[in-house]
Amino acid sequence: MIEKRAPGKLYIAGEYAVVQPGGSAVLVAVDRYITVRLTEGSEVGRVRSSAYGRTPLEWVRDDANDRIVLEHHPTDYVFAAITASEQLRSSRGLAPRYYDLDISSELDDVSGQKYGLGSSGAVTIAVIDALDEFYRLGLTPTERFKLALLATIEVSPDSSGGDLAASTFGGWIRYSSPDRAALRTHRAAHGTVETLSSVREWAGSSVRRLPHPNHLDLLVGWTGSPASTERLVEQVRRTEERPAVIPYDSFADDSRACVDDLAAAFARRGEGALEVVHRARRVLQRLSASSGVLIETAQLRALCDIAERHGAAAKPSGAGGGDCGIVLTRTDSPASPADEIIREWRENDILPLSLAPHPAAGDIDDF
Ligand code: MEV
Repeated sequence: MIEKRAPGKLYIAGEYAVVQPGGSAVLVAVDRYITVRLTEGSEVGRVRSSAYGRTPLEWVRDDANDRIVLEHHPTDYVFAAITASEQLRSSRGLAPRYYDLDISSELDDVSGQKYGLGSSGAVTIAVIDALDEFYRLGLTPTERFKLALLATIEVSPDSSGGDLAASTFGGWIRYSSPDRAALRTHRAAHGTVETLSSVREWAGSSVRRLPHPNHLDLLVGWTGSPASTERLVEQVRRTEERPAVIPYDSFADDSRACVDDLAAAFARRGEGALEVVHRARRVLQRLSASSGVLIETAQLRALCDIAERHGAAAKPSGAGGGDCGIVLTRTDSPASPADEIIREWRENDILPLSLAPHPAAGDIDDF
């Protein structure tokens, strides 16, 4: 049996702006995981996951067309990851095999609600990792990330891939997204293998490690209402075409300045980081006001306001509309406000999640 796990993620700055090709974000991988167990099968492949209910999904091979055939869930991340890995396997002339995948998640609460910690990204990475080992493809972390992004954008074309980068490389990272529309077009015309190594299509995209900010503590609160990232990103995009909206022309620049300044603050042992997170919350508030899309729900506002009242910096993490908020406090201040913040969160039905960064691992190649 092969067992692979991939961590979840949190956005610290740069949400929405990172959706534009070349846009940047700061993320951290967190120590909650999706685990994929792969065992060899014979005449049929199965995927078992709480997301599919009790009965495993079954797939068979259409050998004539080198495709996986699946009833009912054609555009799922797991199958997109299988399809992309199988294309790589086939290009290497390796014989196809059947396998069963058993998927379990710590990125949902007991009732199966998502925390917004990037479960689609983590499952895509874990499946690709497992198949990399199963077929002995020998992919580097950067190649696994790229393959995962090609798979993901077949399901969700707007996904920036920030969650995949955090899940692949761990630790704190600064991520800049490639042009995913160009990647999809290139893959459709030239195939997966050629797209993976095409220099032009990945231009402008990068992952850089940031130093672990030793002097900062990260607190995470969950507001209990899962949000649909795809729907929110789509709503923000659509407002750009509506005549009545108040434009927020400097959004991309303001967001990039937050990302740059946060990366610089991390390099100075966290000095100035709280001010940047404070600013990043205001940038998202302005985006929300100009687009009419609710990013900071009443619960997220309470989460952030409580933290700010205690001298910490706070903002929604990711697309907002529910899910998680993050808080940074300084570890070297005389009295940490964390206990007080958590107590007030509980009074407001905000669940503190005890998360720590998942450590950085593996080299990052230049794209
Ligand atoms: C959602 O977690 C973050 C967004 O920037 C979307 C994305 O990066 O794919 C809103």
